[in-house]
Amino acid sequence: MKKLILTLFLTFYGYAVIRYHIGKNLSGWMEFFFVLNKSFAWTAGTLLTLSVLPSYFLEKYKLKRRAIGTFAYTIALIHINSSILLLSEKFYPKFYTHSHLNAAGWLYISLGALSILLFTIPLIASKLNFPEGHFMYRFGRYGILLNLSHVTAIGFKGWLSYQDWPFYMPPITLLFVLSGLLILGFRYLILRK
Ligand code: HEM
Repeated sequence: MKKLILTLFLTFYGYAVIRYHIGKNLSGWMEFFFVLNKSFAWTAGTLLTLSVLPSYFLEKYKLKRRAIGTFAYTIALIHINSSILLLSEKFYPKFYTHSHLNAAGWLYISLGALSILLFTIPLIASKLNFPEGHFMYRFGRYGILLNLSHVTAIGFKGWLSYQDWPFYMPPITLLFVLSGLLILGFRYLILRK
């Protein structure tokens, strides 16, 4: 379990360092924190999406669904707190107009907040040891759809302008949403039950 999280986090952080610290020449303490936050977000989102895979499948890889969900939720809280600390026109210009959060900014944040709220329901169910088929676990998949919307809303404008990508490295938002759709496709089209 810890190996999976460490591998995911270090891979995602390495990608973000090359794309932002080197590709976009970002330096400074707050910029270090800004790039680190991207890796927390990407790791949390990926683990939350993996947590919809059924236990019988995850256990083939010695992974526990509840543990994945709990770790993911914790890392998501780190991302949310980091984002609140970084929330400014300097780091998130598309969230602001004339130094005030604009409608798009409120939408991005609301989609993120709603997704963590929905993920709280299956987390409570797992802490109360409710059986796997309990209806409260179903909120997890709606949390993922909201989370994919959160990231799509933030990033889709930059998905086609590949000529602006540093080293032609795709944006993290695009890679996260594609991998999320692949995992959901695998879960509901291949595994089905
Ligand atoms: C389950 C909860 C959440 C997850 C899994 C999540 C995941 C993500 C992911 C994968 C990204 C794309 C990262 C990137 O572009 O580098 C992102 C971006 C972002 N999220 Fe969230 N998010 C969540 C909730 C929230 C909430 C509640 C807020 C409100 C403060 C928030 C604020 C942001 C911001 C500001 C960005 C832009 C980051 C950037 O461009 O560097 N997120 N989020």
